[in-house]
Amino acid sequence: MRNEIKKFIFGIAFLLIGFCEVAFGQEHTIIPEPLQVSDNNTTFNFSEETTIEAGLPLLFEAEYCKDLLQRDFDIETVVRTGHNYDGKIKLLLDKTISAKEQYQLWVSNDSILIAGSTSAGVFYGLQTFKQWMWQHYNARTMTLKGVFITDQPRYPFRALMLDPARYFLPLDGLKSYVDVMAQYKYNRLHLHLSDDQGWRIEIKSYPKLTEIGSVRQETDGDGKTHAGFYTQDEMRELVAYAAERHIAIIPEIDIPGHSVAAIAAYPYLTCFDEKKLNVRTTPGVSKDLLCAGKDEVFQFVDAVITELSPIFPSEEFHIGGDEAPLDHWETCPKCQMRMETLDIENPRELMSFFFERVNKSLQKNQKKSLIWYELDVPYYPENSIMYAWRKGLSRKVIHQAYKNGYSVIMSPGEHAYFDYPQAKGEETCDWMPVLSLKQVYQFDPCMGLKPAKCDHIIGVEATVWGEYVRDIDRAFYMTWPRGFALAEAGWSSPEKKDWNVFKKKLKPHLDGLEKQGINFRKPIEEL
Ligand code: ACM
Ligand code: ZN
Repeated sequence: MRNEIKKFIFGIAFLLIGFCEVAFGQEHTIIPEPLQVSDNNTTFNFSEETTIEAGLPLLFEAEYCKDLLQRDFDIETVVRTGHNYDGKIKLLLDKTISAKEQYQLWVSNDSILIAGSTSAGVFYGLQTFKQWMWQHYNARTMTLKGVFITDQPRYPFRALMLDPARYFLPLDGLKSYVDVMAQYKYNRLHLHLSDDQGWRIEIKSYPKLTEIGSVRQETDGDGKTHAGFYTQDEMRELVAYAAERHIAIIPEIDIPGHSVAAIAAYPYLTCFDEKKLNVRTTPGVSKDLLCAGKDEVFQFVDAVITELSPIFPSEEFHIGGDEAPLDHWETCPKCQMRMETLDIENPRELMSFFFERVNKSLQKNQKKSLIWYELDVPYYPENSIMYAWRKGLSRKVIHQAYKNGYSVIMSPGEHAYFDYPQAKGEETCDWMPVLSLKQVYQFDPCMGLKPAKCDHIIGVEATVWGEYVRDIDRAFYMTWPRGFALAEAGWSSPEKKDWNVFKKKLKPHLDGLEKQGINFRKPIEEL
């Protein structure tokens, strides 16, 4: 469509917004809640001639639109590339739309227009369009109520995390998981690819990582071997699949703790290597860390980062950093020697050195480190992105990260640990608290601090830790519907959020999951 026509249409739409929004209120079921939804007193008629028109860079989005109309609404359309003005559904890249993921959706008498400054924006516009259709499409008359929606996210980083280290999750399951995430405007899937209980990604220069490290003899005494890993080609396939849906895959190699599977494969990586370790068969925290005194450890980490970096084009690379007890570093002669050379007395500073050294490998590969923040580590590499995760410490982490100049991703135990049970009676172990849908909805990423104190928060992430998540169906169950609530924490303006409205919006979304054959927890109690 010519720019002047578009400007005219949007101009009229803006004029209408003022008096229509009040009357129209919040009468929609879109999740995450959009920035602005305005009635425009129009009706769009679908017909046999309804075509989807898009420029070549939006071909994936156009096909996606065609598929969703066919699948969800039984409407047949054709895709035409280019802009020849007779298409009824128009997908547009519009550089005058300022924010990267922003979009505008305009349903009017003559056309359905979805515009974004990037293809991600258009893709999110499509998700909103689908949800608008769920509620306002009349299949008998083939009509759709008109609307003008303009929308953009609160945060640039909106993530979910899966943990295939504890239980391997086959590739197809990850793709389905990506499919659903994309429908709720998430843009990162973080994969926890290594832990004490398993190493899950092929590293060609260290083949024993998967030969030995991906096999666990049993789990908590069940007597059953558990094994599995992704080849590099499989990860490339997932990265490409997710990228089409505007989701970046973030790899995590958790070091220097949570490394027993790697140590089982290459015993020299730890401080006291005379005792042979096996891939850990129980949950919990191990004292066997990668040794900070051995150069071979840094060669190993460098090789892993260098092999994985080109497979995951995202700038972000997670290097763990959580739960690394210092007992062995305190007594290991090599670690002690390193401390002497560096002229440091405290093994906590050795932890800072460890990350500085690892960060050199990340920088060489144009990556930024993501790290689970531990408040007792004196400093982390400049430009690191820190995770607030420990329950009860979020405000301290926000504050300390602010002082030290780190960006922060909010993933606090109080609101975002999706391995926690969703209701009483669903506990899988004795220490996890219940994390209800409401508690996730009440997540304020600033944790009650003044906005000026949390400018450095760049996003939110919910973690589906895998100790008790044995397959992707269980991961889905733990994610949805809590993932709807977290999507609003990451996307929606705080002043637009309302628990009572959110509750009322849930039904079509649960129905949508059901239709797709996705496992989820039905909210059976009074919300
Ligand atoms: C964590 O929950 N260990 C980051
Ligand atoms: Zn050591």
